[in-house]
Amino acid sequence: MKTITFVLFAVLALGADPEFNKDGELVRPKNYREWIFLSSGVGMNYGTGDLPFGNVFVEPSAYRNFTETGRWPDKTIFALELRKPATEGSINKGGKYQTSLIAVEAAVKDTARFPDGWGYFGFNGNAATAKVIGTSGGCNACHSKNAAVEHSFVQFYPTLLEIAKAKGTLNPSYKP
Ligand code: HEC
Repeated sequence: MKTITFVLFAVLALGADPEFNKDGELVRPKNYREWIFLSSGVGMNYGTGDLPFGNVFVEPSAYRNFTETGRWPDKTIFALELRKPATEGSINKGGKYQTSLIAVEAAVKDTARFPDGWGYFGFNGNAATAKVIGTSGGCNACHSKNAAVEHSFVQFYPTLLEIAKAKGTLNPSYKP
């Protein structure tokens, strides 16, 4: 019983660090839907052809750390879930709602693993692992240049934006 309590405590205290396999690929975070929901966007498209919904989640211990400091701790992991949109179904006549999964993208802060601290990953469909997308792959370029806090797009997560403003942690280059 003592061991179980200790393990539970350790898991709660440490949170869930991103998991990598021996080839350095990120293992798909299975329970990201139980993380902290930050926001949704629709049609915030900067790649694929259709205009999907995007739902952003962050691992809970990183979220708690952000609420206290306005910064992301090492081993922070985000998931951006992309889902197809639909307008007609069941009783819905007008508004848009979300349907099947297109992909899950991830961003990981790991200063020992990635040259500028952040790594980007795309899990197509239900892929179990994803290779890091190199710095020439565009993800890092856009995030590092345009994001409001470190490499994260806090300007689109209204509750976090308030925290970053209060803690004075917005990137100097960020323009509202
Ligand atoms: C042209 C700019 C741009 C590029 C390129 C880009 N992103 Fe993003 N990304 C955004 C914006 C804007 C958001 C904010 C919210 C959204 O899209 O819902 C975001 C949000 C995210 C998030 C949620 C956490 C955060 O940082 O705010 C992840 C994860 C993510 N992107 C992964 C990726 C991956 C993986 C790639 C490369 C395959 C990529 N992005 C390429 C602009 C970009």
